[in-house]
Amino acid sequence: MTEDEMLYKKAEEALKTAYAPYSNFKVGAAVLSASGKIYTGCNVENASYPASICAERTAIVKAVSEGEKELTKIAVASCRGDFTYPCGVCRQVLSEFMKNAFVIVGNGKEIKKFKVCELLPHSFTL
Ligand code: THU
Repeated sequence: MTEDEMLYKKAEEALKTAYAPYSNFKVGAAVLSASGKIYTGCNVENASYPASICAERTAIVKAVSEGEKELTKIAVASCRGDFTYPCGVCRQVLSEFMKNAFVIVGNGKEIKKFKVCELLPHSFTL
């Protein structure tokens, strides 16, 4: 199993703990840091919908809050089993913390890999 496949598997595992009673759309993410650690996350919804957080941001916030400075890859999986791409807000957060990293998506059979800057060119910066 390649590192990308392993990370995608971690994302698939992470979606099992998603809290998604409103959309019933469970998402999991797994971030790999340069130090070799993996941080997983899932979407956690709220009755006040905008208070919800996506799986990607859960994983990134976990890594950054643990002191990780360099994140190299993130894999995303969902209960749909088909390719699930990060939403626009998550793409902006990916640009903030892992601009030169890779995004891995899969459908259970095949894996696709993109650079963050391909998914969000000309991201907003200050
Ligand atoms: N969701 C994610 O967790 N990641 C994405 O990139 C797309 C959307 C979640 C948010 C919400 O809980 C559910 O999927 C439906 O939009």
